[in-house]
Amino acid sequence: MTAQRIIRMGNPILEQLADEILDPESDEIKALIADMIDSMHEADGVGLAAPQIGVSLRAVVFCTPPEPPETSDQEDEEEEGSPGAPGDPRRDVIRAQPITILINPEIETLDEEMELGIEGCLSVPGLCGPVPRYLRIRYTGIGTDGERIDRTVEGFHARVVQHECDHLDGILYPMRMEDISRLAYVDEIQLINEVDIEDTKVEQPQGLEA
Ligand code: NI
Repeated sequence: MTAQRIIRMGNPILEQLADEILDPESDEIKALIADMIDSMHEADGVGLAAPQIGVSLRAVVFCTPPEPPETSDQEDEEEEGSPGAPGDPRRDVIRAQPITILINPEIETLDEEMELGIEGCLSVPGLCGPVPRYLRIRYTGIGTDGERIDRTVEGFHARVVQHECDHLDGILYPMRMEDISRLAYVDEIQLINEVDIEDTKVEQPQGLEA
């Protein structure tokens, strides 16, 4: 299988409502999924949706985030919002997790609570910004062996799934931002934070790149 070029914001395919997959167990879909996983790995991302390689079908892949700890003190909670930072060891932890393949996914929000987290996107390279997402969701879908997937998740896991499924509905994360003025270049923020002057620290670009 082959890593494909990841298309970027401006390509009309990213704006389309992707089509349902009629035969999730077909060889054609297995080949598509293999290409998606290779493309995600080559781009060093933690998730990818089929439209990002130019195929307007309802399939996503992502590195399954590990379960959050049962109990967490304040410090853990602070860390939980920043698992995807470039150079952050937790990003490597996520990338080492098994990959979830989800065909024809559906999301059900479990309550109205949302939280802000910094996201990036392989189709919007170099940029990042804070995006509100539902904290707790249930998602369902089909795997490539025809198995039904049904999970209730929260936090970063819920965020990844919402980001990927948005791609199937033609939505890129900047369209979800409440304050577009906070869209920023990742490397510019890193440069600012290298200058060790009081009050110049900017929130690190910590979100998923997916
Ligand atoms: Ni994305």
